[in-house]
Amino acid sequence: MEKMIDIHNHLIPKFDDGPASLEESLEMLKHAQEQGITDVFATSHFNEYIPPEMEHDYFFKLQDLREEALAQKIHIKKSRVTTLCDQGLYVLIEFPMFQTPEGIEEVLFRLSMENYIPIVAHPARYQMVLEKEERATQFVQFGGLLQLNAGSILGHFGRESQKVALKLLRNGIPHFIASDAHSPDGRNFLLRETYDFLKGKLPESYLRDLFYNNAKNIIDNIRIDSVTLPAESTKRGFLKKLVRKFR
Ligand SMILES: [Fe+2]
Repeated sequence: MEKMIDIHNHLIPKFDDGPASLEESLEMLKHAQEQGITDVFATSHFNEYIPPEMEHDYFFKLQDLREEALAQKIHIKKSRVTTLCDQGLYVLIEFPMFQTPEGIEEVLFRLSMENYIPIVAHPARYQMVLEKEERATQFVQFGGLLQLNAGSILGHFGRESQKVALKLLRNGIPHFIASDAHSPDGRNFLLRETYDFLKGKLPESYLRDLFYNNAKNIIDNIRIDSVTLPAESTKRGFLKKLVRKFR
């Protein structure tokens, strides 16, 4: 795997629980570059409680980071807001870790109906999925794509999370593996390590989709059409058709 793209990380300094300074952000970017990561999408936390002025702050910080990275010759090609990559197509969504809010599937389905493609961040970290892993498949049935965290695969979020992540991968369900990097010393960009861990366990072509091709489709504004559903879910012909129809 020469090239990789990271679609989920908290790279912007002093914005959420990501890096504490511009220097730390740059350190993370250098680490990403060393691994062969060519593009990163800066995906700081946004929710309905974030005031508009903070949004401005986000873009200023992103700009600072871009300029400084360029000055230090870090050739990460792009860095954009994953909330759609400025293209109005893909949305990265994170659900609560421990609660199970009502209507998650409905949210995914509605987004699909409105022609968005929702990407569910780290399904293997949610309590609701650890308790009932078919829930992750359901997210796909309702129009979502799945992004696993590198840390789940490597076992950094516990054995259960790792077990679920690997099972989903063996069934070919997830579409992306991303770092969800937060800081230079704790959770950093771990894509190379994760690729090495998975090499030989999954078909190389699937690994290429997970680490590069699918993310490249986001950048190029191409819809990912082939949604893989495990065999047992094909009984639900109705849902499958619906999902297909809106993709
Ligand atoms: Fe995150």
